[in-house]
Amino acid sequence: MPKLRDAIVPAPLRKVAKPGSSGVPKEQAPADLKTAPPKRQTELEQIAEKAKEAPVESLAWLDQRLGASGFLTGLLYRHVPKGTNWFYTLGSATLFAFIVQAVTGVFLAMFYTPSATQAYASISHINNDVPLGQFVHGMHKWGASVMVILVFLHMGRTFFFGAYKYPRELNWVIGVVLLILTMLMAFTGYLLPFDQRSFWASIVGININGTGPIVGPYLNDFLRAGPELGATTLSRFYAIHMLLVPGAIIALIGAHLYLVVKLGTTAPPWVKAERPKIAAPHSELEAGAENGRVNGQVNGYERVDGQGNGTGTSPA
Ligand code: HEM
Repeated sequence: MPKLRDAIVPAPLRKVAKPGSSGVPKEQAPADLKTAPPKRQTELEQIAEKAKEAPVESLAWLDQRLGASGFLTGLLYRHVPKGTNWFYTLGSATLFAFIVQAVTGVFLAMFYTPSATQAYASISHINNDVPLGQFVHGMHKWGASVMVILVFLHMGRTFFFGAYKYPRELNWVIGVVLLILTMLMAFTGYLLPFDQRSFWASIVGININGTGPIVGPYLNDFLRAGPELGATTLSRFYAIHMLLVPGAIIALIGAHLYLVVKLGTTAPPWVKAERPKIAAPHSELEAGAENGRVNGQVNGYERVDGQGNGTGTSPA
């Protein structure tokens, strides 16, 4: 039975035991069976041994049914372009901010009442009476600003590194929708405490939406959900904030990350593209051996058999 540490390392990366050693260190192998007969395990030792193997057994049981190790190997052991730096963590930081918002939001929803007469009182109750209520509310409130800032910084990184170009245009478009949805989360969440500030700020926001060409007035009516901002508006904002937008964000983040894993990330613009290693047709390799060998390459192809000079520079 492999150790847990070995079981979670994907097969291609596991250390292979030396031939003939069967993986047992020398000092552990009994030199002479007569002088050192194998010790019989007591029942307790056998149970302890079984218990030690339980985590590996459970992992193997799950893996046989889910095929997860192949998926995880592809996901976690990917090529990362040269020059990858801290700016590449902004996407994951945005994802982390979203997860924090989702978790703290669930706890706030347990105590919040989306009613025009009780919303303000329920927020006061969270802040003043619920254990850790003010802390969780504060995390959600500040986390909203953090997520908005991070999503803009992440967009800036992908823009300045040219990551919106072929073949990542679709991921950029998904990103734009994610940006709009993040802003919509911040906008709809702002009304929920239903105090003077959130009430008047939402009126300003809804009126700004109303000035948009063609769709403006419809958007205005949809958001207000009635002739005046009031109880119906609060219910509508709550449903958008709690259900509609988070659901869409989760689905789109899934698609966004699928494309990141599938296409890989872009190298920074200042890193020179590496020449792809292409196996040259055999006939060309033969001919190149006579006349086309320049800089360890043959007729412009990088040798993949280790016979080049390894510099990978252009043949010209
Ligand atoms: C909820 C919001 C978002 C989350 C959680 C998110 C998450 C991520 C993550 C984890 C990555 C891979 C690591 C990285 O390059 O940083 C990534 C890559 C990418 N994101 Fe986002 N993202 C979001 C919003 C956006 C926005 C607003 C845009 C642009 C309008 C965008 C465009 C891209 C592009 C083009 C890539 C590929 C980068 C590359 O190939 O180098 N994302 N995103």
